Amino acid sequence: MSLTRTNLAILGLQWGDEGKGKVVDLLSPRFQQVVRFQGGNNAGHTVVVDGQSIALHQVPSGALHPGCFLVVGNGVVLNLEVFQQELDRLRARGFDLAGRLLLSDKAHLILPHHIALDLWREGGANKIGTTGRGIGPAYEMKAGRMGVRLGDLLHPETLADRIRPGYEEVRLRLGEGSGLSSLEAIVDALLRTAEPFLSFIGDTQGHLLTAWERGDSILFEGAQATLLDIDHGTYPFVTSSNCSLGGLFTGTGLPPKALDRILGIAKAYTTRVGAGPFPAELHDALGDRLREVGREFGTTTGRPRRCGWFDAPITAHACRTNGVDGLAIMKLDVLDGLDEVGLIVGYRTGEGTVTTKLPSCAADWKGLKAEVKRFKGWASTRGITDHRQLPAEAQAYLEALAESVEVPVAYLSTGPDRHEGCVYPGTFLEPLLA
Ligand code: GDP
Ligand code: IMO
Ligand code: MG
Repeated sequence: MSLTRTNLAILGLQWGDEGKGKVVDLLSPRFQQVVRFQGGNNAGHTVVVDGQSIALHQVPSGALHPGCFLVVGNGVVLNLEVFQQELDRLRARGFDLAGRLLLSDKAHLILPHHIALDLWREGGANKIGTTGRGIGPAYEMKAGRMGVRLGDLLHPETLADRIRPGYEEVRLRLGEGSGLSSLEAIVDALLRTAEPFLSFIGDTQGHLLTAWERGDSILFEGAQATLLDIDHGTYPFVTSSNCSLGGLFTGTGLPPKALDRILGIAKAYTTRVGAGPFPAELHDALGDRLREVGREFGTTTGRPRRCGWFDAPITAHACRTNGVDGLAIMKLDVLDGLDEVGLIVGYRTGEGTVTTKLPSCAADWKGLKAEVKRFKGWASTRGITDHRQLPAEAQAYLEALAESVEVPVAYLSTGPDRHEGCVYPGTFLEPLLA
């Protein structure tokens, strides 16, 4: 076993879109295996290389490095049609994944009726602003023992019977005239779409256990983020998977001791897409400015992201939930040029006290007002690659931020491109990014 091997998890600490894709791409050259373990094509991970942007949804963000073997673990839900489009786009850009991709035979399929059910619900009063990709229904079918797994594609004769129970339930719910294709049409289309993938389907748990025993370095790419976690997020305004650390183990079948380090990813401010509590949200021109400068529009749906200051209580909760060893703070440059930068240090309750504890129930978030600490702004951090060259005001802000979540900064991102950022000396990332 290699002594220098580090198996590293990359996890989002806010409500998603923190810049996980950039960090995974940056670290990938030092890893032999890059693994997705939960979520589906609700994820949108952007990688920028020489000014060219590539959006990945289901393909792990190590795709641009030919030395990385890409694994889609059992905890993922997959839309194969979208996966094919993603592979085609990558191939057109010169990235071929043949021979370096394995899809778990236990991963679940996202089927057309899952998407129809997701969209139908989003048209009603209980709308939570999902990505409309069928993620919730696909995970519900999994938990309800009506899911269809990639491995079922290897037994085409059983497919109609596997799909039927879930399909019938959705049809009952949506009623006649819902526009759903027939079961036969869904099976036929699936078999056609699946054909090019059959040779990629296999035992990802066995593959990863062998890779681990061999001493390969494994990078685990989280999708979504802790505040969107089905258990530890702002329920019910969450996604349907465990995006925090527990999901890594159930979503790969690896034991906890296979993991060495946890890198938490957070923006220097906060965003969220869709409905749900967000006390830090700025409803004014400052919020608009963060959206414009940070290009805060969804990678997957193009929706404008809600923007606000860095929220220490939610990020500290995420750090504790995941046992984060170090922070990657992203998009500091987006705060450049502001007179003042805010940091949410707590929430003022209706009774006038200040708390840093996150409510468990959506109803208890109502009435909480963000308590802002203000810092002097700075001119520019864009493209800085040595943290000692940061303006003193930016350094003071970052120090306060790290202190507020009790985790040190290991990486600071100062622009979307690979080379725009600083690695902090003495941290566990230094040997990986040297
Ligand atoms: P992910 O879902 O966590 O991978 O993040 P997204 O890709 O959805 O959103 C992050 C966006 O910010 C992408 O468009 C990145 O190219 C961009 N980005 C990442 N780091 C930086 C940075 O330091 N500065 C700026 N300005 N943009 C960044
Ligand atoms: P990445 O990996 C930001 C949000 C949706 C919605 C909620 C539920 O790019 O960080 P779903 O379609 O999952 O049932 O939607 O979760 N959401 C994300 N927000 N980034 C993501 O992924 C997201 N994936 C889901 O906007 O509020
Ligand atoms: Mg994203």
